[in-house]
Amino acid sequence: MFRKLALSAATVLALGTGGAMAAGEEGHIEDYDFSFEGPFGTYDQAQLQRGLQIYTEVCSACHGLRYVPIRTLSAEDGPGMPEDQVRAYAEQNFEVFDEELDDFRPARPVDNFPANDALGAPDLSMMAKARAGFHGPYGTGLNQLFKGMGGAEYIASLLTGYTGETKQEAGTTFYENTAFPGGWISMAQPLYGEDVEFADGHSNELHHEAQDVAAFLMWTAEPKMMARKEAGFVGVLFLTVLSVLLYLTNKRIWRPVKHKD
Ligand code: HEC
Repeated sequence: MFRKLALSAATVLALGTGGAMAAGEEGHIEDYDFSFEGPFGTYDQAQLQRGLQIYTEVCSACHGLRYVPIRTLSAEDGPGMPEDQVRAYAEQNFEVFDEELDDFRPARPVDNFPANDALGAPDLSMMAKARAGFHGPYGTGLNQLFKGMGGAEYIASLLTGYTGETKQEAGTTFYENTAFPGGWISMAQPLYGEDVEFADGHSNELHHEAQDVAAFLMWTAEPKMMARKEAGFVGVLFLTVLSVLLYLTNKRIWRPVKHKD
């Protein structure tokens, strides 16, 4: 019985790590390496700042980040920008509607990023958690266990997955994309490489830009990821110590019974 169980478990695991993309409609997801992967992975502050710059200069034209407070840009476990820089960033880049003034005013750190659905573009605050890059095989979720949910990988693959083909349907233009489920997306290719100039001189090739903005969007979707991992680690440590103590207690309680002559 146990042999059989172990055998089928091993088979399932082998299938899982094989990484077969089961469903035909799924797009191709590149397995990028991100700094925040793994049990001890952390966000790379410089990368989050570059991602913010791309979001601001390119994506914010269509996409909002309505659930993200601007002040969180100074979070130590996030982009870690100095507070005066965050204030200047808010003022220079965004306007919000103030109900008291009954007018628009420059954004402040206490405000959230503005919403933006002008072109029917979805809000990106939670996108990296709403999409999964890795599935299966066949709904077992094993790929996700080994590779993570892959929300950031999905976004980076989407941004690099344009083939250049377009088609018109019912008055809308669709763009062929190898990562988008179904293969045709109504978002025109937003990044081509060299779209932004980074102050730190980091490469602005397309695949770098795509990973930087994907990392930034992972942070907006899960700003407390590092705290969560830490809590998980402490939990595992605690349970390990508890198991040892329980084992020893158990031995001790039964000792008189076992050693009865
Ligand atoms: C010109 C407007 C425009 C710009 C600029 C733009 N997008 Fe989009 N985006 C859209 C639209 C419209 C959709 C909805 C596409 C659909 O569902 O077919 C979309 C959808 C998305 C999606 C969701 C795809 C899905 O799985 O549903 C992501 C992620 C995304 N955009 C990321 C970005 C990023 C990152 C940038 C900046 C590098 C960006 N977009 C720039 C218009 C835009």
